[in-house]
Amino acid sequence: MANFKTLDDLGADLSGQVALVRVDLNLPMKDGSATDVTRVEAAKPTILELADRGAKVLLLAHFGRPKGARNSTMSTSMVQGDVERVIGREIMFIPEVSGPVAQQAIGILRDGDIGLMDNVRFWPGEEKNDPEFAKGIAALGDFYVNDAFSAAHRAHASTEGLAHLLPAYAGRSMEQELKALDAALGSPTPPVAAVVGGAKVSSKLAVLENLVGKVQHLIIGGGMANTFLAARGVDVGKSLCEHDLTDTANAILAKADESGCTVHLPYDVVVAKEFAANPPSMRVCNVHEVAADEMILDVGPLAVEALGDVLKTCRTLVWNGPMGAFETAPFDAATVALARTAAALTKEGSLVSVAGGGDTVAALNHAGVAGDFTYISTAGGAFLEWMEGKQLPGVVALQA
Ligand code: 3PG
Repeated sequence: MANFKTLDDLGADLSGQVALVRVDLNLPMKDGSATDVTRVEAAKPTILELADRGAKVLLLAHFGRPKGARNSTMSTSMVQGDVERVIGREIMFIPEVSGPVAQQAIGILRDGDIGLMDNVRFWPGEEKNDPEFAKGIAALGDFYVNDAFSAAHRAHASTEGLAHLLPAYAGRSMEQELKALDAALGSPTPPVAAVVGGAKVSSKLAVLENLVGKVQHLIIGGGMANTFLAARGVDVGKSLCEHDLTDTANAILAKADESGCTVHLPYDVVVAKEFAANPPSMRVCNVHEVAADEMILDVGPLAVEALGDVLKTCRTLVWNGPMGAFETAPFDAATVALARTAAALTKEGSLVSVAGGGDTVAALNHAGVAGDFTYISTAGGAFLEWMEGKQLPGVVALQA
Protein backbone atom coordinates (compact mmCIF):
# COMPACT_ATOMS: atom_id res chain seq x y z
CA MET A 1 0.00 0.00 0.00
CA ALA A 2 1.33 3.44 -0.89
CA ASN A 3 2.47 5.51 2.04
CA PHE A 4 0.61 8.33 3.68
CA LYS A 5 1.18 10.29 6.88
CA THR A 6 -1.12 9.80 9.85
CA LEU A 7 -1.73 11.63 13.14
CA ASP A 8 1.23 9.63 14.51
CA ASP A 9 3.51 11.79 12.34
CA LEU A 10 2.38 14.98 14.14
CA GLY A 11 3.99 16.23 17.35
CA ALA A 12 2.44 15.03 20.62
CA ASP A 13 1.67 18.58 21.74
CA LEU A 14 -0.30 20.51 19.14
CA SER A 15 -1.17 23.51 21.28
CA GLY A 16 -1.05 26.79 19.41
CA GLN A 17 -1.70 25.01 16.09
CA VAL A 18 -4.83 25.10 13.95
CA ALA A 19 -5.90 21.79 12.35
CA LEU A 20 -8.07 21.95 9.23
CA VAL A 21 -9.96 18.68 9.33
CA ARG A 22 -12.05 17.53 6.33
CA VAL A 23 -14.87 15.33 7.59
CA ASP A 24 -18.01 13.98 5.90
CA LEU A 25 -21.11 15.48 7.51
CA ASN A 26 -23.34 14.71 4.55
CA LEU A 27 -25.87 13.05 6.85
CA PRO A 28 -29.34 11.75 5.95
CA MET A 29 -31.87 14.07 7.65
CA LYS A 30 -35.47 13.90 8.77
CA ASP A 31 -37.38 16.66 10.61
CA GLY A 32 -34.23 18.69 11.20
CA SER A 33 -32.03 16.00 12.67
CA ALA A 34 -29.80 13.26 11.35
CA THR A 35 -31.25 9.77 10.96
CA ASP A 36 -27.80 8.16 10.82
CA VAL A 37 -24.71 9.61 12.53
CA THR A 38 -22.27 6.83 11.55
CA ARG A 39 -20.09 9.31 9.68
CA VAL A 40 -19.80 11.57 12.73
CA GLU A 41 -18.94 8.57 14.88
CA ALA A 42 -16.27 7.65 12.32
CA ALA A 43 -14.69 11.11 12.54
CA LYS A 44 -14.97 11.37 16.35
CA PRO A 45 -11.64 9.70 17.26
CA THR A 46 -9.70 12.08 14.98
CA ILE A 47 -11.52 15.19 16.22
CA LEU A 48 -11.07 14.31 19.90
CA GLU A 49 -7.47 13.19 19.49
CA LEU A 50 -6.46 16.46 17.83
CA ALA A 51 -8.39 18.54 20.36
CA ASP A 52 -6.95 16.59 23.28
CA ARG A 53 -3.46 17.09 21.89
CA GLY A 54 -4.13 20.84 22.12
CA ALA A 55 -4.95 21.83 18.53
CA LYS A 56 -7.76 24.18 17.61
CA VAL A 57 -9.83 21.87 15.41
CA LEU A 58 -11.61 23.43 12.43
CA LEU A 59 -14.09 21.09 10.77
CA LEU A 60 -14.55 21.46 7.04
CA ALA A 61 -17.41 19.63 5.32
CA HIS A 62 -20.01 19.66 2.57
CA PHE A 63 -23.71 19.09 3.15
CA GLY A 64 -25.88 18.36 0.13
CA ARG A 65 -25.24 19.85 -3.29
CA PRO A 66 -25.84 23.63 -3.07
CA LYS A 67 -24.00 24.23 -6.38
CA GLY A 68 -21.72 27.05 -5.34
CA ALA A 69 -24.25 29.34 -3.60
CA ARG A 70 -25.39 29.88 -0.02
CA ASN A 71 -28.56 27.99 0.85
CA SER A 72 -29.80 28.06 4.43
CA THR A 73 -31.29 24.54 4.18
CA MET A 74 -27.83 23.18 3.42
CA SER A 75 -25.83 25.02 6.05
CA THR A 76 -23.65 22.74 8.16
CA SER A 77 -25.28 24.51 11.15
CA MET A 78 -28.15 22.06 10.48
CA VAL A 79 -25.99 19.22 11.78
CA GLN A 80 -24.15 21.17 14.52
CA GLY A 81 -26.41 19.70 17.23
CA ASP A 82 -25.92 16.15 15.98
CA VAL A 83 -22.16 16.60 15.82
CA GLU A 84 -22.04 18.10 19.35
CA ARG A 85 -24.12 15.21 20.70
CA VAL A 86 -21.90 12.54 19.13
CA ILE A 87 -18.60 14.27 19.93
CA GLY A 88 -19.77 15.20 23.43
CA ARG A 89 -18.32 18.73 23.26
CA GLU A 90 -19.54 22.19 22.40
CA ILE A 91 -18.69 23.38 18.92
CA MET A 92 -18.48 26.94 17.63
CA PHE A 93 -20.23 27.49 14.29
CA ILE A 94 -18.25 29.65 11.85
CA PRO A 95 -20.32 30.88 8.86
CA GLU A 96 -17.30 31.15 6.52
CA VAL A 97 -14.38 28.99 5.33
CA SER A 98 -11.81 31.77 4.84
CA GLY A 99 -11.25 35.49 5.33
CA PRO A 100 -11.44 37.88 8.30
CA VAL A 101 -14.63 36.49 9.91
CA ALA A 102 -13.10 33.00 10.01
CA GLN A 103 -9.78 34.43 11.29
CA GLN A 104 -11.61 36.29 14.04
CA ALA A 105 -13.49 33.14 15.07
CA ILE A 106 -10.23 31.20 15.28
CA GLY A 107 -8.89 33.98 17.49
CA ILE A 108 -11.76 33.33 19.91
CA LEU A 109 -11.22 29.55 20.01
CA ARG A 110 -8.90 28.28 22.74
CA ASP A 111 -6.47 25.40 22.32
CA GLY A 112 -8.47 22.18 22.23
CA ASP A 113 -11.68 23.89 21.06
CA ILE A 114 -13.62 22.77 18.00
CA GLY A 115 -15.09 24.99 15.27
CA LEU A 116 -17.47 23.94 12.49
CA MET A 117 -17.18 25.94 9.29
CA ASP A 118 -20.10 26.37 6.92
CA ASN A 119 -20.78 24.18 3.90
CA VAL A 120 -17.64 24.42 1.77
CA ARG A 121 -19.78 23.86 -1.36
CA PHE A 122 -21.41 27.30 -0.86
CA TRP A 123 -18.36 28.60 -2.75
CA PRO A 124 -17.92 27.70 -6.44
CA GLY A 125 -14.15 27.32 -5.93
CA GLU A 126 -14.71 24.14 -3.93
CA GLU A 127 -16.00 21.88 -6.71
CA LYS A 128 -13.75 23.59 -9.27
CA ASN A 129 -10.79 22.81 -7.03
CA ASP A 130 -9.76 26.45 -7.53
CA PRO A 131 -6.23 26.95 -6.12
CA GLU A 132 -7.03 30.54 -5.02
CA PHE A 133 -10.06 29.35 -3.06
CA ALA A 134 -8.00 26.56 -1.51
CA LYS A 135 -5.28 29.08 -0.55
CA GLY A 136 -7.86 31.12 1.34
CA ILE A 137 -8.83 28.08 3.42
CA ALA A 138 -5.23 26.94 3.85
CA ALA A 139 -4.32 30.37 5.29
CA LEU A 140 -6.43 29.54 8.35
CA GLY A 141 -4.54 26.41 9.38
CA ASP A 142 -1.14 24.95 10.19
CA PHE A 143 -1.88 21.48 8.83
CA TYR A 144 -4.59 19.54 7.01
CA VAL A 145 -6.19 16.25 8.02
CA ASN A 146 -8.49 14.34 5.67
CA ASP A 147 -10.83 12.01 7.54
CA ALA A 148 -13.49 11.85 4.83
CA PHE A 149 -12.84 8.73 2.75
CA SER A 150 -16.47 8.87 1.61
CA ALA A 151 -15.75 12.18 -0.20
CA ALA A 152 -12.30 11.14 -1.47
CA HIS A 153 -13.61 10.37 -4.98
CA ARG A 154 -14.16 14.13 -5.44
CA ALA A 155 -11.21 16.22 -6.61
CA HIS A 156 -12.41 19.32 -4.76
CA ALA A 157 -10.50 22.06 -2.94
CA SER A 158 -11.24 20.65 0.52
CA THR A 159 -10.68 17.01 -0.44
CA GLU A 160 -7.69 17.34 -2.78
CA GLY A 161 -6.39 20.90 -3.24
CA LEU A 162 -5.61 21.54 0.43
CA ALA A 163 -3.37 18.48 0.63
CA HIS A 164 -0.93 20.26 -1.71
CA LEU A 165 -0.88 23.50 0.29
CA LEU A 166 -0.39 22.31 3.85
CA PRO A 167 1.33 19.36 5.53
CA ALA A 168 -1.32 16.65 4.97
CA TYR A 169 -2.31 13.69 7.12
CA ALA A 170 -4.88 10.90 7.00
CA GLY A 171 -7.25 10.98 9.96
CA ARG A 172 -7.90 7.83 11.98
CA SER A 173 -11.02 6.86 10.02
CA MET A 174 -9.31 7.43 6.67
CA GLU A 175 -6.32 5.41 7.88
CA GLN A 176 -8.50 2.51 9.02
CA GLU A 177 -10.49 2.62 5.80
CA LEU A 178 -7.40 2.54 3.56
CA LYS A 179 -5.90 -0.36 5.50
CA ALA A 180 -9.14 -2.36 5.34
CA LEU A 181 -9.62 -1.71 1.64
CA ASP A 182 -6.05 -2.70 0.91
CA ALA A 183 -6.59 -5.96 2.79
CA ALA A 184 -9.72 -6.61 0.70
CA LEU A 185 -8.58 -5.85 -2.85
CA GLY A 186 -5.12 -4.21 -2.81
CA SER A 187 -3.10 -7.12 -1.43
CA PRO A 188 -5.72 -9.62 -0.24
CA THR A 189 -5.22 -13.19 0.89
CA PRO A 190 -6.72 -15.45 -1.83
CA PRO A 191 -9.11 -16.95 -2.65
CA VAL A 192 -11.11 -13.73 -2.83
CA ALA A 193 -14.89 -13.60 -3.28
CA ALA A 194 -16.88 -10.55 -4.27
CA VAL A 195 -20.61 -10.27 -3.72
CA VAL A 196 -22.17 -7.69 -6.01
CA GLY A 197 -25.89 -7.10 -5.84
CA GLY A 198 -28.32 -4.30 -6.47
CA ALA A 199 -30.85 -3.46 -9.09
CA LYS A 200 -28.93 -2.65 -12.23
CA VAL A 201 -25.90 -3.92 -14.12
CA SER A 202 -25.62 -0.47 -15.75
CA SER A 203 -24.77 1.22 -12.44
CA LYS A 204 -22.03 -1.29 -11.63
CA LEU A 205 -20.56 -2.18 -15.01
CA ALA A 206 -17.11 -0.81 -14.20
CA VAL A 207 -17.18 -2.60 -10.82
CA LEU A 208 -17.93 -5.96 -12.44
CA GLU A 209 -15.33 -5.44 -15.16
CA ASN A 210 -12.64 -4.67 -12.59
CA LEU A 211 -13.59 -7.48 -10.22
CA VAL A 212 -13.55 -10.33 -12.74
CA GLY A 213 -9.85 -9.65 -13.27
CA LYS A 214 -9.11 -9.58 -9.54
CA VAL A 215 -11.23 -12.09 -7.63
CA GLN A 216 -11.57 -15.84 -7.86
CA HIS A 217 -15.34 -15.91 -7.18
CA LEU A 218 -17.86 -13.30 -8.29
CA ILE A 219 -21.29 -13.77 -6.74
CA ILE A 220 -23.95 -11.77 -8.56
CA GLY A 221 -27.31 -11.16 -6.92
CA GLY A 222 -30.15 -8.66 -6.98
CA GLY A 223 -31.82 -7.42 -10.14
CA MET A 224 -28.49 -7.43 -11.97
CA ALA A 225 -28.34 -11.24 -11.76
CA ASN A 226 -31.44 -11.32 -14.01
CA THR A 227 -29.57 -9.53 -16.78
CA PHE A 228 -26.81 -12.14 -16.59
CA LEU A 229 -29.34 -14.99 -16.52
CA ALA A 230 -31.08 -13.52 -19.57
CA ALA A 231 -27.70 -13.24 -21.30
CA ARG A 232 -27.28 -16.98 -20.74
CA GLY A 233 -30.62 -17.65 -22.39
CA VAL A 234 -32.81 -17.93 -19.27
CA ASP A 235 -36.36 -16.59 -19.61
CA VAL A 236 -36.68 -14.28 -16.57
CA GLY A 237 -40.39 -13.51 -17.08
CA LYS A 238 -41.27 -9.98 -16.03
CA SER A 239 -38.27 -9.61 -13.71
CA LEU A 240 -36.30 -6.39 -13.60
CA CYS A 241 -33.80 -6.97 -16.39
CA GLU A 242 -31.69 -4.80 -18.71
CA HIS A 243 -32.19 -6.79 -21.91
CA ASP A 244 -30.15 -4.23 -23.87
CA LEU A 245 -27.11 -5.16 -21.77
CA THR A 246 -27.02 -8.87 -22.53
CA ASP A 247 -24.00 -8.47 -24.86
CA THR A 248 -22.19 -6.53 -22.13
CA ALA A 249 -23.06 -9.22 -19.60
CA ASN A 250 -21.74 -11.92 -21.96
CA ALA A 251 -18.50 -9.94 -22.44
CA ILE A 252 -18.07 -9.77 -18.66
CA LEU A 253 -18.67 -13.53 -18.40
CA ALA A 254 -16.10 -14.16 -21.15
CA LYS A 255 -13.54 -11.95 -19.39
CA ALA A 256 -14.19 -13.82 -16.15
CA ASP A 257 -13.55 -17.13 -17.93
CA GLU A 258 -10.24 -15.88 -19.30
CA SER A 259 -9.15 -14.61 -15.86
CA GLY A 260 -10.06 -17.77 -13.98
CA CYS A 261 -12.89 -16.07 -12.09
CA THR A 262 -15.95 -18.23 -11.41
CA VAL A 263 -19.16 -16.24 -11.74
CA HIS A 264 -21.95 -17.54 -9.51
CA LEU A 265 -25.51 -16.87 -10.64
CA PRO A 266 -28.52 -18.21 -8.74
CA TYR A 267 -29.93 -21.54 -9.96
CA ASP A 268 -33.00 -21.39 -7.79
CA VAL A 269 -34.92 -18.20 -7.15
CA VAL A 270 -37.86 -16.77 -5.21
CA VAL A 271 -40.53 -15.47 -7.58
CA ALA A 272 -43.92 -13.77 -7.31
CA LYS A 273 -46.51 -12.28 -9.62
CA GLU A 274 -46.58 -9.01 -7.72
CA PHE A 275 -44.01 -7.09 -5.72
CA ALA A 276 -45.46 -6.79 -2.22
CA ALA A 277 -44.72 -8.15 1.24
CA ASN A 278 -45.48 -11.89 1.50
CA PRO A 279 -47.49 -12.06 -1.77
CA PRO A 280 -49.74 -15.14 -2.06
CA SER A 281 -48.24 -15.94 -5.49
CA MET A 282 -44.74 -16.31 -4.05
CA ARG A 283 -42.90 -19.56 -4.71
CA VAL A 284 -39.38 -20.96 -5.03
CA CYS A 285 -38.37 -22.47 -8.37
CA ASN A 286 -35.47 -23.34 -10.62
CA VAL A 287 -34.34 -20.39 -12.77
CA HIS A 288 -35.54 -22.28 -15.85
CA GLU A 289 -39.09 -22.45 -14.50
CA VAL A 290 -39.90 -18.76 -14.09
CA ALA A 291 -43.33 -18.14 -15.70
CA ALA A 292 -43.92 -15.25 -18.10
CA ASP A 293 -46.00 -13.37 -15.49
CA GLU A 294 -43.56 -13.89 -12.60
CA MET A 295 -40.64 -11.83 -11.40
CA ILE A 296 -37.49 -12.92 -9.58
CA LEU A 297 -37.28 -11.14 -6.21
CA ASP A 298 -34.60 -13.06 -4.33
CA VAL A 299 -31.98 -15.78 -4.65
CA GLY A 300 -33.35 -19.20 -3.67
CA PRO A 301 -32.37 -21.24 -0.59
CA LEU A 302 -30.36 -23.91 -2.45
CA ALA A 303 -28.24 -21.30 -4.19
CA VAL A 304 -27.71 -19.47 -0.89
CA GLU A 305 -26.45 -22.66 0.70
CA ALA A 306 -24.09 -23.28 -2.20
CA LEU A 307 -22.85 -19.67 -2.01
CA GLY A 308 -22.21 -20.12 1.71
CA ASP A 309 -20.04 -23.14 0.79
CA VAL A 310 -18.13 -20.96 -1.68
CA LEU A 311 -17.45 -18.42 1.09
CA LYS A 312 -16.14 -21.23 3.31
CA THR A 313 -13.37 -21.87 0.75
CA CYS A 314 -12.41 -18.16 0.58
CA ARG A 315 -10.12 -16.06 2.79
CA THR A 316 -11.26 -12.61 1.70
CA LEU A 317 -14.68 -11.15 0.88
CA VAL A 318 -15.69 -7.80 -0.49
CA TRP A 319 -19.43 -7.10 -0.54
CA ASN A 320 -21.53 -4.44 -2.24
CA GLY A 321 -25.27 -4.57 -2.76
CA PRO A 322 -28.12 -6.80 -1.57
CA MET A 323 -28.95 -10.25 -3.07
CA GLY A 324 -32.68 -9.58 -3.38
CA ALA A 325 -35.38 -6.97 -2.80
CA PHE A 326 -34.29 -6.99 0.85
CA GLU A 327 -36.45 -4.08 2.02
CA THR A 328 -39.61 -6.15 1.50
CA ALA A 329 -40.10 -9.38 3.50
CA PRO A 330 -39.41 -12.17 2.85
CA PHE A 331 -37.18 -11.14 -0.07
CA ASP A 332 -34.47 -10.26 2.44
CA ALA A 333 -33.86 -13.96 3.18
CA ALA A 334 -30.90 -14.57 0.84
CA THR A 335 -29.11 -11.35 1.85
CA VAL A 336 -29.62 -12.10 5.54
CA ALA A 337 -28.54 -15.76 5.27
CA LEU A 338 -25.40 -15.06 3.22
CA ALA A 339 -24.46 -12.09 5.42
CA ARG A 340 -24.79 -14.29 8.50
CA THR A 341 -22.55 -16.97 6.97
CA ALA A 342 -19.94 -14.30 6.12
CA ALA A 343 -20.17 -12.89 9.65
CA ALA A 344 -19.78 -16.34 11.24
CA LEU A 345 -16.73 -17.12 9.08
CA THR A 346 -15.24 -13.75 10.00
CA LYS A 347 -15.80 -14.43 13.70
CA GLU A 348 -14.13 -17.83 13.36
CA GLY A 349 -11.13 -16.03 11.87
CA SER A 350 -11.21 -17.73 8.46
CA LEU A 351 -12.47 -14.74 6.44
CA VAL A 352 -11.55 -11.06 6.13
CA SER A 353 -14.83 -9.37 5.19
CA VAL A 354 -15.16 -5.82 3.95
CA ALA A 355 -18.45 -4.26 2.87
CA GLY A 356 -19.59 -0.83 1.81
CA GLY A 357 -21.81 1.33 -0.33
CA GLY A 358 -25.30 2.77 0.21
CA ASP A 359 -27.79 -0.09 0.58
CA THR A 360 -25.18 -2.57 1.71
CA VAL A 361 -24.71 -1.14 5.17
CA ALA A 362 -28.49 -0.97 5.63
CA ALA A 363 -28.77 -4.61 4.50
CA LEU A 364 -26.06 -5.80 6.89
CA ASN A 365 -27.57 -3.82 9.74
CA HIS A 366 -30.90 -5.43 8.91
CA ALA A 367 -29.22 -8.86 9.08
CA GLY A 368 -27.84 -7.83 12.49
CA VAL A 369 -24.26 -8.62 11.47
CA ALA A 370 -22.69 -5.28 10.59
CA GLY A 371 -20.61 -5.42 13.77
CA ASP A 372 -19.23 -8.86 12.87
CA PHE A 373 -17.71 -7.93 9.53
CA THR A 374 -14.00 -7.09 9.58
CA TYR A 375 -14.73 -3.62 8.24
CA ILE A 376 -17.76 -1.69 7.04
CA SER A 377 -17.02 1.37 4.95
CA THR A 378 -18.89 4.61 5.60
CA ALA A 379 -18.65 5.45 1.90
CA GLY A 380 -21.20 5.18 -0.90
CA GLY A 381 -19.90 6.52 -4.22
CA ALA A 382 -16.26 6.44 -3.08
CA PHE A 383 -16.54 2.75 -2.18
CA LEU A 384 -17.94 1.94 -5.62
CA GLU A 385 -15.18 3.90 -7.38
CA TRP A 386 -12.64 2.04 -5.29
CA MET A 387 -14.28 -1.26 -6.34
CA GLU A 388 -13.97 -0.07 -9.94
CA GLY A 389 -10.22 0.06 -9.38
CA LYS A 390 -10.08 3.85 -9.74
CA GLN A 391 -7.56 6.03 -7.96
CA LEU A 392 -9.41 8.34 -5.57
CA PRO A 393 -8.05 11.91 -5.85
CA GLY A 394 -8.42 12.62 -2.12
CA VAL A 395 -6.38 9.52 -1.31
CA VAL A 396 -3.75 10.10 -4.02
CA ALA A 397 -3.17 13.64 -2.71
CA LEU A 398 -2.40 12.27 0.76
CA GLN A 399 0.17 9.91 -0.73
CA ALA A 400 1.94 12.60 -2.75
C1 3PG B 1 -21.64 10.90 0.02
O1 3PG B 1 -22.66 11.22 0.67
O2 3PG B 1 -21.52 9.79 -0.58
C2 3PG B 1 -20.46 11.81 0.05
O3 3PG B 1 -20.58 12.75 1.06
C3 3PG B 1 -20.25 12.47 -1.29
O4 3PG B 1 -21.31 13.32 -1.60
P1 3PG B 1 -21.50 13.83 -3.10
O5 3PG B 1 -21.95 12.62 -3.91
O6 3PG B 1 -22.51 14.92 -3.06
O7 3PG B 1 -20.15 14.30 -3.59
